[in-house]
Amino acid sequence: MAIHIKTSDEIKKMRIVGKLAAEVLEFIEPYIKIGISTGELDSICHKYITQVQQAKPASLGYQGFPKSICTSVNDVVCHGIPNINQKLKEGDIINIDITLFKEGFYSDTSKMFFIGNPTNIGKKLCDITQNSLYLAIQKIKPGIRLNILGQTIQNAIEKEQFSIVREYCGHGIGKNLHEEPQILHYKADDQGIILIPGMTFTIEPMINIGSYKTKIMQDGWTVKTKDHSLSAQYEHTLLVTESGCEILTHRQEETIPFIINHT
Ligand code: MF3
Ligand code: CO
Ligand code: CO
Repeated sequence: MAIHIKTSDEIKKMRIVGKLAAEVLEFIEPYIKIGISTGELDSICHKYITQVQQAKPASLGYQGFPKSICTSVNDVVCHGIPNINQKLKEGDIINIDITLFKEGFYSDTSKMFFIGNPTNIGKKLCDITQNSLYLAIQKIKPGIRLNILGQTIQNAIEKEQFSIVREYCGHGIGKNLHEEPQILHYKADDQGIILIPGMTFTIEPMINIGSYKTKIMQDGWTVKTKDHSLSAQYEHTLLVTESGCEILTHRQEETIPFIINHT
């Protein structure tokens, strides 16, 4: 029941496993086309992670989850199960969530992909969701209270009249996939802990066009919006540094830098 502050040796390992997770998202991008199934995307990622990266896909077997990645299409909020019969179609939006384990440490990251040309509102939802994550990341530095992050996301999302899923949160990460602290994506009553260098956690806002309410499907995993409105999510694994933060799962294509320095 404590927040683990990572040593410099542990941070080196977190950087390695973080970069690998980012590279899976870069690697899978060209395969995400009309007609491919989410099950095929899972197999391709599984092979790359295990054979090329020599890492472990941490979602496989996690509390009984049956696949190596999560694929959440359209009104699926998170934890979509890849399926060979689920083919991607024109206009879909899909979140791919990669959770890796290597040399004792975990990383966790996700982003949205477009199939062909989604609706303008769907594209805007994704853009606003990613931007809310970036705004929160830009607030991270030692000395701030954790609730600043949720407050920043809530301000950005409510301006656009989208809604923030409440049942699922970001989390501390390191030797465990999910450890303390919980990272809320909305403003809590509690100010939360003070950030200090060496903390590692995810921020992973799930944002809906309609209501924030969700429901779990019969498979016990797939989370959908209750009103079937579209949902988007972006996730990074982050390290608090002396002067700001490092985005451990940073991808080359991103407009935000890998290291954010406030001094
Ligand atoms: N990647 C998820 C997260 O962001 C965890 C996935 S575990 C699974 O915390 F079992 F659902 F795959
Ligand atoms: Co996560
Ligand atoms: Co994740």
